[in-house]
Amino acid sequence: MGEVDPAFIQAQEHRPKPDFTRAEGIPLIDLSTISSPNSILDNDQALGVLVEEIGDACKNWGFFQVINHGVPLAKRQNIEKASRIFFDQPLEEKRKVRRSEEKVLGYYDTEHTRNIRDWKEVFDLNVQDPTVVPASYKPDDEELTRWFNQWPEYPADLREVCEEYATEMEKLAYKLTELIALSLGLPEDRFHGFLQEQTSFIRLNHYPPCPVPDLALGVGRHKDGIVLTILAQDDVGGLQVKRKTDGEWLWVKPTPNAYIINVGDIIQVWSNDTYESVEHRAMVNSGRERFSIPYFLAPAHYTNVQPLEELTNQQNPAKYKPYNWGKYLVTRKRSNFQKLDVENLQIHHFKIPESELAEKLD
Ligand code: OGA
Ligand code: NI
Repeated sequence: MGEVDPAFIQAQEHRPKPDFTRAEGIPLIDLSTISSPNSILDNDQALGVLVEEIGDACKNWGFFQVINHGVPLAKRQNIEKASRIFFDQPLEEKRKVRRSEEKVLGYYDTEHTRNIRDWKEVFDLNVQDPTVVPASYKPDDEELTRWFNQWPEYPADLREVCEEYATEMEKLAYKLTELIALSLGLPEDRFHGFLQEQTSFIRLNHYPPCPVPDLALGVGRHKDGIVLTILAQDDVGGLQVKRKTDGEWLWVKPTPNAYIINVGDIIQVWSNDTYESVEHRAMVNSGRERFSIPYFLAPAHYTNVQPLEELTNQQNPAKYKPYNWGKYLVTRKRSNFQKLDVENLQIHHFKIPESELAEKLD
């Protein structure tokens, strides 16, 4: 392995196995009932079936793929092409739109997941430009700031194709939140209020070929801290999802024009653990570069994330203490620049211990 920086090397137990499971996949869900206006099916009944499928997928897998989702293929092809062109440039060009502690959006190639460096480079952009967030991670500091997108000179259409893609993602994300709300027995617009001044963002991921794909990962195991993720992966594949039943890492076979959806930590908290956010990671390979584009749906900074009242009661008390989304987001971003000794902020830090829950029940 000679010249590979040891910062990329995963501990033995986290390295991808050469014989990973390709056989059984995450559920594939057809959204034509809600995306085609002239559905021939009896709509109420078809919607009921779809809501049940979504609920089962969220509960049993935390991950699913959707087809017939209504996102025009051309919008996806445009952003995929622009992303390729952007990353194909020399490093010094990409670094002109580099992230810094002040400019938190743009290009960077030094992300670490759980202190191991990821074999990837990324370009981040916010859906709302600018996005309002707390100025500081400190709990008592009430000052706000604005995060602005940075756009490279080349390719010239990057901004336009990203903005058009973001509009499509937002429509799909809203539909998904509605289906998820219905599957939890809530009104379909239950989550809309949290998304008024959202902090959603899009990431262009590029995973270059890696000389040691059995020792490194494109992105190390993690859960997404947001509401939900809509991921477009290319035909190379590499995403792996941890199966809930046995902890096995499953390879998600690329399906043309499908999107991969996963429940994020916020849905886990809102649903009081009915739906859990699931660990995933991305493998790299020595032969082909890989591209993926996640859209992360995230609420307004002032949202206090906590189990929904309708989903908790005396027998099923809230399992989490409320936390402020903006402070959480800013704290997590900060750790990208400063290696913190403490573990990165995670939702389990807000979990109420079982013993306290038991006392409440008495
Ligand atoms: C992420 C992620 C997976 C992939 O960026 O959060 O999980 O396949 N990406 O790129
Ligand atoms: Ni992820």
